[in-house]
Amino acid sequence: MDEKLNADIMDKLTKVCLCKGIPRSSIKKAILEGADTLEKVQRKTGAGSGGCGGKRCTPKILELLEQHNNGEW
Ligand code: FES
Repeated sequence: MDEKLNADIMDKLTKVCLCKGIPRSSIKKAILEGADTLEKVQRKTGAGSGGCGGKRCTPKILELLEQHNNGEW
């Protein structure tokens, strides 16, 4: 399978915010649309507003922001 397509599918299947069921694809889309801080990503996607208060998804969002800053995707 095409590597990019495979990565896109994984992004849709992988939940970053488990409480709100928000996939990695939505977080990446928000970042690509200009959300360049944790707060902006949270506001745009709703991530972090679930039962755990962002305890589980915050590190993953920060990692995605850092990867994007480093030009990894
Ligand atoms: S995993 Fe995102 S608020 Fe709980």
